[in-house]
Amino acid sequence: MAQIPFEKNLDSTLALIGDPYRFISDRCRRHRSDLFETRLLLERTICMTGPEAARLFYNPDLFVRKGAMPKAIQKTLLGEGGVQGLDGGSHRHRKQMFMSLMSPAQIGELTRLTAAEWQARMRAWTSTPNVVLYPEFQRLLTRASCAWVGIPLADPEVDARSRNIVALFDHAGSVGVRHLWSRWSRKRADRWLANIVEEFRSGRLHLPEHTAAHAVAWYRNPDGALLAPQVAAVELLNLIRPIAAVSVYMIFVAHALHMHPDIRDKLRSGDDDYANLFVQEVRRYYPFFPAVAARARRTFELNGYKILEGRRVILDLYGSNQDRRTWEKPEEFEPERFCRWDGGQFNFIPQGGGDHYVNHRCPGEWITIALMKQATEMLTQQMAYDVPEQDLQIEWSRMPALPRSRFVISNVITREAPWATATT
Ligand code: HEM
Repeated sequence: MAQIPFEKNLDSTLALIGDPYRFISDRCRRHRSDLFETRLLLERTICMTGPEAARLFYNPDLFVRKGAMPKAIQKTLLGEGGVQGLDGGSHRHRKQMFMSLMSPAQIGELTRLTAAEWQARMRAWTSTPNVVLYPEFQRLLTRASCAWVGIPLADPEVDARSRNIVALFDHAGSVGVRHLWSRWSRKRADRWLANIVEEFRSGRLHLPEHTAAHAVAWYRNPDGALLAPQVAAVELLNLIRPIAAVSVYMIFVAHALHMHPDIRDKLRSGDDDYANLFVQEVRRYYPFFPAVAARARRTFELNGYKILEGRRVILDLYGSNQDRRTWEKPEEFEPERFCRWDGGQFNFIPQGGGDHYVNHRCPGEWITIALMKQATEMLTQQMAYDVPEQDLQIEWSRMPALPRSRFVISNVITREAPWATATT
């Protein structure tokens, strides 16, 4: 049996942390292979890239998720006991609950809530000399996501809760103090929401019936048991946290509009089809989640290589969206390419691949797209602004990667005011 190409160093963890988005695809190119083996956190790990690798990775007969994610990610970003670590029937059952929250009507409700937040903030921005969009988007989305999920959040709480929620995705991939802050935030956020679930179940707090919070609090596992309050909290955060994390993609919307004034002009006309192409290209072109992890369910053979039961495997998400077998000139930003895309489940995977109901593919893709389109409309049609001199270079070693300046705008004029002279 052939030997899987192997990285010769003792451990590649530092190399991965140093360049998380290009780590796998660069080495695959060097090994002239879609997969190679290395050690990450001293554990033998197979790294894979590309559409065929994704097709294999999402085959539940070959891979499971139990025990695949490093503890550091479970103690921060994901939490413990949530849908991400489930397999088989219990995964499908819990996933159905998430999918039931993603109807067009429910997504419409969320965009109505975010529209109100946008209007309020845009008004405030008109009297602010320099507005840093990243924290603004985080707060706006935290408020809207809590309202949508049905979690009470009083005005004076917003800043602290928003910082807490943001730390779960913005600091999880860091080392040192920022990572510790993320761990502390996980404990605090889990406790906050577990208390709410307990209060609700005991009748001391009312949560409206149509809300996600109601659905999560009364969700029963296939064996009929309610979720432990701690696990219900993790699942509530699986809704609130990623909605707040769309702030990262909204920053990339602003970045792309600034880098491509011709595209911005086209979007000003309000062409919904073109806005769709644009948002898809932002999700393909810009980095967000570098990779996802699983373990081999059993020993099997793959292209002449033996994959042993229990071996950890990670799939390159960012690099697969840049794969030349699917994407011509992937390094160019070109929304029109999505007119030619075949809609495949494994060749465009910014939020995972496969089937939303069966696999671990993100149930929040439609929400993400809707919020990004709304941001596009707001930034092109509802307001005008300048982009002052700043460092817009993307920090590739950070997770999530972001423009260094976090995107600053000035001289904001909203549509309600006369369209005066703002230039962008
Ligand atoms: C900010 C943009 C988002 C990105 C980049 C993103 C990315 C991802 C990725 C990469 C996965 C893992 C796929 C896998 O394991 O194969 C995932 C899973 C998940 N996402 Fe998202 N997501 C986003 C937004 C959302 C939103 C808005 C929601 C809900 C409101 C959401 C809820 C979830 C849940 C619950 C899972 C676990 C699914 C499962 O294990 O079956 N995400 N997401």
